[in-house]
Parts: sequence; structure tokens; C-alpha cells
Amino acid sequence: MSKTFDVVVIGGGPGGYIAAIRAAQLGLEVACIDEWSNTKGGPALGGTCTNVGCIPSKALLQSSENFAHAAHGFAAHGIGVAGLTIDVAKMVARKDAIVKQNNDGIQYLFKKNKVAFFHGRGSFARALDGGRGGYEIAVAGNEAATLTARQVVVATGSSARALPGLPFDEERILSNDGALRIGRVPERLGIVGSGVIGLEMGSVWRRLGAQVTVLEALPVFLGAADEQVAKEALKAFTKQGLAIELGVKVGEVKIGKAGKGSKSGNGDHGDVSVSYTDAKGEARTLEVDRLIVSVGRAPNTVGLAPEAVGLQLDERGAVVVDDECRTNLPGVWAVGDVVRGPMLAHKAEEEGVAVAERIAGQHGHVDFGTIPWVIYTDPEIAWVGQTEQQLKAAGRAYRAGSFPFAANGRARALGNTTGFVKFLADAATDEILGVHIVGPLASELIAEAVVAMAFKASSEDIARICHAHPSLGEAMKEAALAVDKRTLNA
Ligand code: FAD
Ligand code: NAI
Repeated sequence: MSKTFDVVVIGGGPGGYIAAIRAAQLGLEVACIDEWSNTKGGPALGGTCTNVGCIPSKALLQSSENFAHAAHGFAAHGIGVAGLTIDVAKMVARKDAIVKQNNDGIQYLFKKNKVAFFHGRGSFARALDGGRGGYEIAVAGNEAATLTARQVVVATGSSARALPGLPFDEERILSNDGALRIGRVPERLGIVGSGVIGLEMGSVWRRLGAQVTVLEALPVFLGAADEQVAKEALKAFTKQGLAIELGVKVGEVKIGKAGKGSKSGNGDHGDVSVSYTDAKGEARTLEVDRLIVSVGRAPNTVGLAPEAVGLQLDERGAVVVDDECRTNLPGVWAVGDVVRGPMLAHKAEEEGVAVAERIAGQHGHVDFGTIPWVIYTDPEIAWVGQTEQQLKAAGRAYRAGSFPFAANGRARALGNTTGFVKFLADAATDEILGVHIVGPLASELIAEAVVAMAFKASSEDIARICHAHPSLGEAMKEAALAVDKRTLNA
């Protein structure tokens, strides 16, 4: 088959599928190619985020949080629970069903918006007239095809980075993929990397009873977060029983024979022995049943044949783009995890929309300064804008205001008073420069801060807005008031 499209999008994750839908909404003829397959070999649209990322991880976090509440939280409400059990197979099946709903939902959206979908691998075949005449894109898969694209959007995402010499087998050495489908609660779970995946996946299996040890190379915990937030979070995670060792150097990892020697007696895996040097320089060994390696992700460009058209990659293999997601080739754009910037689904989506609008002659724009970060642990962690340490390093004069959830009525009623909200505002203009939250529903509360920063609000603006009582949102108002040292409830 051979057909010409205005836009061909390679990759059907949040960057690609959203770009395709927006371009189609704007009247362009659009195709999207994605190679992800479900267990039956059919398409599974939605990329990493839908299949092995945002959605399934949040499903398991919810299940494990429910379990933890029943095990430890209900008693304070006078609710007794006897014989509490966890059926991991059922929990994983629920997660899989949620993933499928999302896969099917995107396929429906493609039909609704008349986006032509091709299930297979897309690669650059050749540039026509140096790219000015478009590009030929080959599709390899069940239905092989050659598509001609006037404009191309590369949205091929990222994959988990393995440790050198330690490939993922997804049985004992797990990437995010295997970590999301462990069939039983491991007795001893090791995690290399205390980043976002390590903390979220570590929380899931810890809540269900695993003994979890996290080995982190850096001497600081969650270096990207505000220091005060990171400190509070580390205290809470340690209390929950996550053993987090900072400043370690992971050495050799030995894998025992499957099914043999496992102290947990699960019988479906063997021992994994991790040699490492601790922060004091002492040689140590960690024995676990399974090891999650979550040390960051690498951009996906293998299979895309960038060399066929001269698409420029950087030293990490990411597609080089400018602030508007233009590559070095005319009519070729790239968005999401395959380019610079944070590897977040909403960042990918924003870039996808902006690129579609620019292709249609509009002025799509992404405000990189107001992209929120959320870590869905307990307590949740969320922030937008700059941290206190970044402001200090930049020599920016600022004022800070914090409010603890312990002084918030709704948090007390919820029984979740860990953490605080912190506002950072310019010392002269009071413009909000950053908002940092550690505590209940930080993931939802941060939206108010994003809106405020997008509209260049001052902390006084938030302090003067009526927030419902009792609500966690009142902690936002109080932290904004604290910038001017006039909290009302603390
Ligand atoms: P992807 O989602 O990776 O999609 C790329 C798609 O392109 C894939 O389907 C891939 O198969 C396909 N593809 C690649 N090459 C080709 C080719 N040559 N031809 C055809 N198809 C191809 N982010 C958040 O914002 N919030 C979260 O809560 C969150 N949780 C996460 C949890 C985990 C465990 C992980 C791993 C990630 C999480 N992320 C989260 C990050 C998020 O998943 C990514 O930032 C997001 O998926 C990036 O979107 P993308 O479209 O750029 O790429
Ligand atoms: P990460 O970059 O968040 O964390 C990796 C951690 O591993 C870092 O702390 C790093 O110092 C450490 N590390 C690297 N090499 C190491 C080594 N050899 N030994 C010990 N520690 C080592 O990467 P992660 O957790 O793999 O996640 C990838 C990306 O996926 C995240 O950066 C994020 O963009 C995205 N994600 C987002 C989520 C969310 O928004 N809630 C959830 C999960 C993932």
C-alpha cells in the first residue's frame, strides 16, 4: 500500500497520539504508526504511559494503598479487619483491564477523528527533494506499507536503561515492565535507583509486605525536588520501612538458578546477589529475590533509521530539536521522551499539541517553566517552578512561606497530616516562582499552583482567593499567606 498524508506521526504514546488527534482536528490528513502489541499480537495504543508507565503504575499504587489502609489505617476509625489477604493475580488483572480500556479508548479516538492507524514499525526510507517534497516512511508489520508524508512527527518515546552487563530478563532483573507484573509479593525486593520509578514501585511492593531495599548512587535523596520536601519524604518513606541507601556504588550482580535457594519459597525465581560499596566505602552485599533496575530511560531511535535522511541525534541518542520541536530537517518534528526535557506524559502531550498547531500554521506554545512534577507515593510529592536551592544558586531574592498539613482540618479528618505546602515568591514583585507540596493529594493540589504561575500570579493573589472549608486547598492559601508571615491557622 502507498498513500500520501499531510502528517505522519511515528509513535502512538501521549506525544504521538495527541499530536495526531490535534492535527486531524485542524483539518489535516493524518496517519499514526505504532508498533506496541498486546499479548494477542494486536495493537496497544498509548505507548509507555498507557502500557507500562503512568496508568498501570497508578492502578497498582491505588490497590496497594487500599491494602495498606485496611492493614494499618482502618483501626483508628474503629473498623476491624480480620483475615486481610491480597490476591496479586486479581490486582494485576484489574490493572491490565484498566490498561486495555485506555488502549481501546485511543483507538476509538483515532476512528472518531479520522486518524489512519498503522500497526507496525515506522522508519525513514528517503527524503524527497531534500525533504521539501516530504518523506517516504516505511511501515513494517502485519500490513507493510510505504507512506508519503508532507510533515513527520517523531514521537518514539523511551525505554528503560539497563545496567552494563545486566540485561533485563523480566523475571529476576526487572525493568518497569516486569516490575508491573510481578505475580506474587516478593519476600525481598531490591531496587537500583531511588528515582521516580524506584519510589513508586518500591512503595507498591512494600505496602504489600515485601522487604524493600533501594540502592541509590547519588549522596542526596531526590535531588531534583526542593531539599525540604525531599527530607520530609525520606523521613516518611523510611518510617514505612523502605530501606534507602544513598551514595552507593553498585558492582557485580550475580543471579542464582531460577527456583533454587529463594528464601521466600516462592519457587518461581532464584536469588539475586548485588555487591556494592556503601557511602562509607565499605563492601556490602544485598541478597534479594528480584531486582528492579530503575536508573533512567534512553530515547528510542533504534529502528527509526534516522541515518536514511540525516536526522540529527545528540550523544544520548535523543533527537535534537529547538524550543519549538523542529529538528534539523525541514518538515520533521520530534516530541516527548525522544527529545530533551523531562520525560513526562503531560510534557509530551503539550509538545504534540503545539507541533500539530504549528504544522497547521497556528502558534502552538509550551510553557516549559510551568510543567508540574508529581510522584505518586505516600506522601505524594508535587512541584512546579523553581526549588529553593535553585533560587539560591541563581542569587534570586525570594520570600518563602510554608504551611503544615498537621494544621489543616481536612487533613486531620482524612487521617493524613504528613507534610506541608511551600510557596516561593519574588522578594520584590511577589510573583510566585515555585510551589512545593509533600502530603495528601499533592497531585491534585499542584494544579492550582500551575494555573497561578501560568497567569503570573503573586502569592498575595492566592492568599486573597476564597478556598472551600474544610479542604486541603486551604493549605495552599495558608502557605501563600505565610509568604507575608500572616498565616491564620498556624
Ligand atoms: P512513549 O509513551 O514511550 O510512546 C512511544 C511509542 O512509540 C511506543 O508505543 C513505542 O512502541 C512506539 N515506537 C517507538 N519506535 C517506533 C517505531 N520506529 N515505529 C513505530 N512505533 C514506534 N509520566 C507522567 O507524566 N506521569 C506518570 O505518572 C508517569 N508514570 C510513569 C511510570 C512508569 C513506570 C514509567 C516507565 C514512565 C512513567 N511516566 C509518567 C513517563 C511517561 O510514560 C512518558 O513520559 C511518556 O510515555 C512519554 O510519551 P511519548 O509519547 O514521548 O513516548
Ligand atoms: P530517574 O531519573 O527518576 O531516577 C533514576 C535514579 O537512578 C537517579 O536517582 C539516579 O541517580 C539513580 N542511578 C543512576 N544510575 C545508578 C546506578 N548505577 N546505581 C544506583 N543508582 C543509579 O529514572 P527512573 O526512576 O528510571 O524513571 C525514568 C523517568 O520516567 C523519570 O525520570 C520520569 O521522567 C518518568 N517517570 C515519571 C513518573 C511520574 O511522573 N510520576 C513515574 C515514573 C517514571
